[in-house]
Amino acid sequence: MDKLTPPVELQRITPAKAVVASGIEMIFQSGAERFQALRGIELEIFSDDLELLMGPSGSGKTTLLSILSGILTPTAGTVELLGQEITGLSRGKLAKFRLKNIGFIFQDFNLFPALTAQENVEAVLNLKGIRRQAAKHQAQQLLEQVGLADKVKSLPRDLSGGQKQRVAIARALAGSPRLIMADEPTAALDSQNGHAVIELLRKLAKEEDCTVLMVTHDPRIMDVADRIVYLEDGMISPQAPHFFPVADGASSS
Ligand SMILES: Nc1ncnc2c1ncn2[C@@H]1O[C@H](COP(=O)(O)OP(=O)(O)OP(=O)(O)O)[C@@H](O)[C@H]1O
Ligand SMILES: [Mg+2]
Repeated sequence: MDKLTPPVELQRITPAKAVVASGIEMIFQSGAERFQALRGIELEIFSDDLELLMGPSGSGKTTLLSILSGILTPTAGTVELLGQEITGLSRGKLAKFRLKNIGFIFQDFNLFPALTAQENVEAVLNLKGIRRQAAKHQAQQLLEQVGLADKVKSLPRDLSGGQKQRVAIARALAGSPRLIMADEPTAALDSQNGHAVIELLRKLAKEEDCTVLMVTHDPRIMDVADRIVYLEDGMISPQAPHFFPVADGASSS
């Protein structure tokens, strides 16, 4: 063997990238008002990573997460997810791709108000082609996993903020998506449920071949993250803004 080549077990194998965003610009226009929320975002996220998106309120976190998951179309730039460019896809193809591959946890939960907790989760499973009985069973299991076994029949209006958030999490996990995008998934949770959700998302990334990108203000998550991406004024900041704590385990870049 060539002396300069390290043995195979020591060579770093570059993991596949789950997300590649390039030249992302987002301008919101309503009437004469024009607001540029994102400016030239370049971002790559490795498969099976758990990465955080942090930054002050209004810095563009929700806008970027929505673009990365195909909910919003950027004014300019491209997004590639799991090797598939989504920016040029038709609405129908994009909807199919999202349903198959992405679980999204919305900042304001976005539950169907007329459906029970279980039906909210089942609806996604049904759309994914899972049959009624199996979907029912899986929905119950997912709700159990987030500590809501006793609330499966409740409507969103009868649930607390933290309980609604956990239904939204169960729904995002339904059908084992390869990408989870979560907008402040622990914001409404108490310490115990917050820890359980963090552990669930960490396990998905590390043991279940899932990539997790999460917007958060929660310092508890910083210790389990592979990387923290900071946003400031619609741009990725090379380091943590001065008012942000920096976690030991994670590096910013
Ligand atoms: N539909 C819209 N029309 C006009 N401006 C918008 C729209 N959506 C977002 N913005 C603006 O873009 C900027 C970024 O908003 P965004 O929701 O992405 O911030 P954020 O970082 O998620 O904030 P927060 O931490 O408060 O959730 C804000 O100034 C917001 O007012
Ligand atoms: Mg937001």
